[in-house]
Parts: sequence; structure tokens; C-alpha cells
Amino acid sequence: MTDSSLPKPIRKAVFPVAGLGTRFLPATKAIPKEMLPIIDRPLIQYAVDEAREAGIEQLIFVTGRGKTAIVEHFDMAFELEATMKDRDKSLEALAPTRIQPGNLVTVRQQVPLGLGHAIWCARAIVGDEPFAIFLPDELMIGQPGCMKQMVEAYNQVGGNLISVLEVPEDEVSSYGVIAPGKRDGALTEVMGLVEKPKREEAPSNLIISGRYILQPEVMRVLEHQGKGAGGEIQLTDAMAQMIGQQPFHAVTFAGKRYDCGSKTGFVEATLAIALEREDMRDEVRAIATRLLGLG
Ligand code: G1P
Repeated sequence: MTDSSLPKPIRKAVFPVAGLGTRFLPATKAIPKEMLPIIDRPLIQYAVDEAREAGIEQLIFVTGRGKTAIVEHFDMAFELEATMKDRDKSLEALAPTRIQPGNLVTVRQQVPLGLGHAIWCARAIVGDEPFAIFLPDELMIGQPGCMKQMVEAYNQVGGNLISVLEVPEDEVSSYGVIAPGKRDGALTEVMGLVEKPKREEAPSNLIISGRYILQPEVMRVLEHQGKGAGGEIQLTDAMAQMIGQQPFHAVTFAGKRYDCGSKTGFVEATLAIALEREDMRDEVRAIATRLLGLG
């Protein structure tokens, strides 16, 4: 395949990070939930690393009041770096926080009207090109990462893509759910989409797991999108209107997913990642074994 036959590249990604994080209070009273660490990296860092691995250049954060720590995290900390250099300390740990000037843009979501509205707030920065969306609560660990797998699929089929995974049927009502069509390997045609359906009305148990590649037309649909599930402007409802107008596929992610929007999911992610990390896995395994009374 020659480069000219590839669809337009995905250079920009939107990160909706305006949420209040009430589920993690009081931890999130003064700190954005996206800054809670999984071991030594804040949650948002995992999503940004995944984006950069997939070739994304520009990060667009849709933020709100009290969320500036996220922007600080990706800024250059001149005094910190100078002091560390003076003391001959390695700056390696800071490497993932370096974003080229101009490649981090923030817009504010002034009113919490829902995910669809948050994405729409980024329309002027996204402009007229396809873009990715990351919901940082969903921690996706894979090799390659979830978005890289999606970009590879996008280079074959173009159009719109969402990552999906199977959940037990009693969990579907917490998510966006797809009506699946033809399946070809990891790719499934999307025939319909419904946000937070009742269990008995869900078209499948394949849920949208927080990664999207969308065409810019979705912004024009969002412009007129009314309120949906939970009284919020839902991205899922706007995407549903694009089915039939443009190609729409789901990618089944080959990797692990942790729902860090819930406390137990957060603990699971911390433990799972600690058990994978060479620098600590033996020690953590020994601790877990002891705590479980298995040692
Ligand atoms: C959002 C989306 C939903 C998706 C979910 C993934 O819901 O609206 O379609 O399945 O994220 O975490 P929320 O968790 O914001 O209610």
C-alpha cells in the first residue's frame, strides 16, 4: 500500500478531563482524579504515552476549574530540572512529561453537560481532520497499545473506529453498547450504538471502552445533539447518527483493560502493573502472597 492510499493521519487527540471525580473524594478534592498515581505515574500519563506511541502529536485537554495540575504535569519544571542537574540526579523519570511547545492545548468545558459536549468544546482545535479520543479512566495496557492497534486498523478501513470489549451482561447498563455486524478478525462492523441500555434491551455485551477515532463530521452532529441517557449530551448518540453515512468499525483490543474510574479497578490496575514491573514484581509478589496468607 502506498502512502497516498492511506486515510488522513490521526495527529490530534482529545482528552476529556473536566470531570469532578466525586467517586474518589476526598482524594480528589484538591487533586484532579487524572493525577492519581498508578505506582509512580499519574493516570493521565498512561493515556498520553499510549497516544504518543500511536503517533499522535497534539494533545487537546478539555479541562475545567481546579484541573491545572494536569497542565503543570506536562510543562517543563525549570527549577526542578536545574536543581536536579546541579545535584547530578538523572532526569530520565521526567522524560514522558515533555511535550513540545504548542503540542498541548487546553480548552475549558464550562458546564458539565456530558461527554458529547466535552468533545464538542474542542471543535475549533480539532478543525477539519480525523482525531482520537482517550477517556483516561480506562487504562489500556497492551503491546502495542490500544490506540496503536486502532490506528493500524484505521489505515486499512478508514472512517470511524471505537475500541470494544466484552463484559458480563449485568454490567452493560453502565456503558455504551454496540450492535455488532460482520466480524473480520479484530474488526467488527458497527450497525448500531446505544448508551447505557437496560440489560434486557442491550444489543450485545460488547461495550465501548474509552478509545475512539472519529471523523470531524461528528462535531457538526454534536452541535445539534439533544440530551440522552442521564440527561447528558452523549457522544454515543452522535456517533450512532454517523452509522450508514461513513464506515464505522469496532476494534477488539488485544490487551488488558482496567476500569480506573472505580476504586477496586484502580487497586487491580496498581497490583497488576506492579506485578509486571521488573523493578518491583518479586517484592510485590512476596507481599501479596503474605497478605493473602498463602506464604
Ligand atoms: C463513557 C461513554 C460510554 C463508554 C464509557 C467507557 O461513559 O459514554 O459509552 O462505554 O465511557 O468507560 P461514562 O463512564 O462517562 O459514564
